[in-house]
Order: sequence, then C-alpha cells, then structure tokens
Amino acid sequence: MGVAVEVDGLTKSFGSQNIWSDVTLTLPPGEISVLLGPSGTGKSVFLKSLVGLLKPERGSIVINDTDIVRTSEHRLYEIRKLFGVLFQDGALFGSMNLFDNIAFPLREHTRKSESEVRRIVLEKMDMVGLQGAEGKLPGEISGGMRKRAGLARALVLDPEIILFDEPDSGLDPVRVAYLNQLIVDLNAQIDATFLIVTHDIGTARTVPDNLGLLFRRNLVMFGPREQLLTSQEPVVRQFLNGRREGPIGMSEEKDVAQVEAEMAALEARGGDSHNGIGPKGASGGEAVPPQLEPSEGLPERQGARRRQERVARMLHEFDETTAAAIRRSLPEDLLARADAGAYAPTTGTNGRHWAADADSGATATTATAVLPRRREGDG
Ligand SMILES: Nc1ncnc2c1ncn2[C@@H]1O[C@H](COP(=O)(O)OP(=O)(O)OP(=O)(O)O)[C@@H](O)[C@H]1O
Ligand SMILES: [Mg+2]
Repeated sequence: MGVAVEVDGLTKSFGSQNIWSDVTLTLPPGEISVLLGPSGTGKSVFLKSLVGLLKPERGSIVINDTDIVRTSEHRLYEIRKLFGVLFQDGALFGSMNLFDNIAFPLREHTRKSESEVRRIVLEKMDMVGLQGAEGKLPGEISGGMRKRAGLARALVLDPEIILFDEPDSGLDPVRVAYLNQLIVDLNAQIDATFLIVTHDIGTARTVPDNLGLLFRRNLVMFGPREQLLTSQEPVVRQFLNGRREGPIGMSEEKDVAQVEAEMAALEARGGDSHNGIGPKGASGGEAVPPQLEPSEGLPERQGARRRQERVARMLHEFDETTAAAIRRSLPEDLLARADAGAYAPTTGTNGRHWAADADSGATATTATAVLPRRREGDG
C-alpha cells in the first residue's frame, strides 16, 4: 500500500516572491489526487518540495513519520527512494537509448545484477506499452512515447508515491485517454499514492479520488473530487469550465468591478450549463461524471475501497449537493453505517483534518482542506 503524504501549513517563497502560503492537505495512501491551478501558481514548485528538491521555509511534509522539510540529508535520500517522479518534459537523457534511460535509477540506486536490471526494465516497458522500443533514442520517438518512457523510468524502483507533472501536456486527445487509463490501471496494480498536476479538465473530472486547486498563493480547496466538481466557489467554477469570466485573469488578478460585470453578463447568457464544451475538456454543467475504472482483468483499486470508507465518514462535512454526489459513489452498507451515525466526527489540527476512528485500525487522515473564502467587498 502506498504511503500517506501529510502537508501542513507549508509556505514557500523565492526571495521576496511568495509562491504559496499555509498549504495543508493529505494525500491518502493509494489514492489518486489531482492538483489544478493557473500557470505560475507553483504546482511544479509544490511537487519539487514534496521530493525535497526545494525547501519551503515554513510548515511540514510528513512521510512515514519523517518531516522531510527538516530531516537530515541522509534520511531525505532514503525517503526519496519512495518516490517516482514524471517530470514535465520527461527529462530523458538524449544520448541514451530508452533501455539505458529506464535502467538508470536501478544502476544508480541499487546493486542489482544486469540480468535483474534487464528483467525489471522490460517489465516496466511492457507495463507502459513500449515493448520493442528499447534501442530507440529519445529523439527518435514521439512525444507520447517519451512520456511513457519517463513513466517507465519513474516506476523501476517500485515507488510508493508517484508524482506526475502534466503527464498529458502535448498529447493528442486519444493518447490522453490511453494515458489516463494507464494511470488508473497502474494504480490498481501497484496501489501507490498518486499526485497528478494537469491542466486537462477531462482528466481532473474522471481520474482522481481527490481534487485540489491552487490560486492566489493559496490552496483554495482540496478534497474528494465531488467537492470541487459541485463547488459554487467562483474560481473553482471558472477553472473547471475553462472560461474567461471570473476571478482568474490572463496575467494579473482582475479587479472586483470587472469580475462582477463579467459574471452578470455570463448569467444573462444562461450561465455555465449553456456554455457548451470548453477547452481542455472543460465542459459546462454541474454533473459529476463517473470515475474511470481499471481495465478488465485487473484487480479493483485498493485505494478506491479505502476511500469509500473515508468519504463516508466525511459525509456530514459537505453541503447537500456535494453529499448527494458522494453518496452516489458509495455502496449500500457504508451508506447505512454512515446514516446510523457509526462515523462520529473527530476533528484534528485546525479543524481541517479528519482522523479515522481510533478503533477502526485505519491510520489515514482524510483529504479535506477548505480555506476560508476570500469574499471581495466583504470589508
Ligand atoms: N528555482 C526557482 N527560483 C526562483 N523562482 C522560481 C524557481 N522555480 C520556480 N520559480 C517561480 O515560482 C513560480 C511558480 O512556478 P511553477 O513552475 O511551480 O508554476 P506552475 O504552477 O508549475 O506553472 P505551469 O502550469 O506553467 O507549469 C513562478 O513564478 C516561477 O518563476
Ligand atoms: Mg509546472
């Protein structure tokens, strides 16, 4: 089972430029989470902080009881082995063929024999559909194949946590669909904890268990996918609908009067649900589409099972619309338990975390963090 990543009060600046402040969220073990946010809001900086490549100045990132913001170099080196990272550009070595690229972490970090290395590399290449391409150079293959080679390389050390930085950028829509299925299938097979940064709203709507949005140096929201997909928060709705009207501007924040005028005009046109299909899979409307399932013949996702119980405990946390959407994803027995009051709320730090009941044997805290709304004009 993948491990949990617990982020609390994390703040990162470069010099006087604050990137984000007080980010608090939990990536539950074995679940798939997606992080959204306009360009430049610090999503890549967040991923790099999780693997210890960047040092936030405040807050903690706890993995296996170690706060990696403050741990020793030696311990950080050990913790890093838990991670597989698919960087934004695949980050392959141009002069090495795919086999050597994918074998690289094994040769660097382990003492496995060449025959063992060969077995693992071929197994991972097979997993991502690259069989037969071992001898190709990165320059000789398509962008989609490079992404998959990067993914195979991220998998060779059997990671417990996998970070994907825009795995779908630059891919055609069919390949994005295949990649999304591959991600869900991988999760079912290895039960690792996944965090995906993407701008593809279709992916955000159908792949993850949890969904979050970074905006204006804050984590605006992070929680079960239904929470964001049914949210009325203006910035969340703007992003998920891929429209110009709303608080997010091209390069700067818009002023309140402009946003209000835009929203009034949008309302006059009938609102989002009549907007049709927007870019990057951003569709109008409020529906929560079904989540992608593993391909036939694969085991069911352990993370999805654990999540059902986790969100059943959180039901009363949400407004009616969100709770109704979550209920549709739950089996009868869990719903009955939730309705019978079997899951008493337990508040953790800042009232943002929900801890599993002490007697349940589960250790995962849940993934909800809702920052207080910034209401423009509220004084
Ligand atoms: N090493 C660094 N030193 C100084 N500033 C940095 C560094 N890395 C990132 N930044 C700044 O942090 C901000 C966030 O960058 P980041 O790459 O995380 O954005 P992003 O959300 O991933 O954007 P995109 O969606 O375009 O990939 C940017 O203003 C960037 O210039
Ligand atoms: Mg980025």
